[in-house]
Amino acid sequence: MIFDNHGRVLDYVRLAVTDRCNLRCFYCMPEEGIDYLPKKQLLTYEEMERMLQVLAGMGIRKVRITGGEPFLRKDLLSFLERIKAIPGIEEIHITTNGVLTGPLVPALKELGIKSVNLSLDSLDRERFFKITRRDELPRVMDTFHALLQHDIPVKINAVVMEGQNTQDIIPLAQLTEKYPVSVRFIEEMPFNGGANNHPSLTWNYLKILDELQNIYPGLTKAADAPNATAEHYRIPGHAGNIGIIAAYTRTFCGTCNRIRVTSQGGLKTCLYGEDILNIRDLLRAGTTDESLNAAFQGAFKNRAKDGFEAEEQRQFLLPVFQSMSTIGG
Ligand code: GTP
Ligand code: 5AD
Ligand code: SF4
Repeated sequence: MIFDNHGRVLDYVRLAVTDRCNLRCFYCMPEEGIDYLPKKQLLTYEEMERMLQVLAGMGIRKVRITGGEPFLRKDLLSFLERIKAIPGIEEIHITTNGVLTGPLVPALKELGIKSVNLSLDSLDRERFFKITRRDELPRVMDTFHALLQHDIPVKINAVVMEGQNTQDIIPLAQLTEKYPVSVRFIEEMPFNGGANNHPSLTWNYLKILDELQNIYPGLTKAADAPNATAEHYRIPGHAGNIGIIAAYTRTFCGTCNRIRVTSQGGLKTCLYGEDILNIRDLLRAGTTDESLNAAFQGAFKNRAKDGFEAEEQRQFLLPVFQSMSTIGG
């Protein structure tokens, strides 16, 4: 098992397989002028596989594939097969925007994908278009239904934004009545590639909770998994549950079990921190598994205690110029 310098177990890696996206969510990136990375700067599948083998040997058990939009990376399914074969990796999860995912759901089921988190900020086609700048709600809903039909656990991720989608909170929560889905409302974070310089956080987790309690007075606290980002609630009689993720208020850093690898191989030991080392450069310089392991150990024993400390340690104060699509969410 890997323990960090604060005694937290690390067993979860979030791996961004691309920085590209087929949506343009305004909380994530600007509408135009995004420079995608040249392909040779991205980790190859072989490099990712080798890195995961080393991490699995150290105690990483859970892999979440993120992006950008992961399904824009060619041959992702064969890469998922290769991850599945790595001894020690017990769970593969995916976070996707759902635009291209629907037709692949049977293959994901076959592969034994443990769960899919679907980004969905509005059930209204016009508002969806306004937020994502693409008219793709129908395909995302098809993906949602295909996942349910194939019994793949689904979580919906909805970023709550003043003036954009607060009218969607209740309709999204209402999905839990009929469907066994977790609908998670997320505080907006300032990672948007400079699209929206200082989003003021009107909708923090308390305000989101308050909004839900006003409509569902019977809302009750439910149990949370030990390292969950979300606080969970149940509405009596509903098949699914509600989660609230205090991503900006950062209430869950004390149990944080995750590391991130960006699509160009940057290791982040906190979402709010800078890259600690570049795995791509190490691999391309011919590093051995032992020295890669040692580099990881060094980084894991030097983690900030929380997202505030990580932010303070940054060289550049506000990370707004980084888009979530390059960090991997
Ligand atoms: P589970 O594995 O299902 O618990 O998912 P997750 O919440 O770890 O991942 P997901 O990709 O669905 O992310 C949901 C939201 O939580 C996104 O807005 C993420 O950026 C945010 N999030 C995930 N991990 C962290 C973290 O370590 N710190 C902060 N502040 N936010 C995070
Ligand atoms: N603030 C909060 N969440 C964000 N995501 C993307 N950008 C932001 C942001 N600025 C979410 C997406 C996706 C997850 C990986 O991160 O909704 O579901
Ligand atoms: Fe794409 Fe996800 Fe960013 Fe939206 S949040 S632009 S779907 S990477």
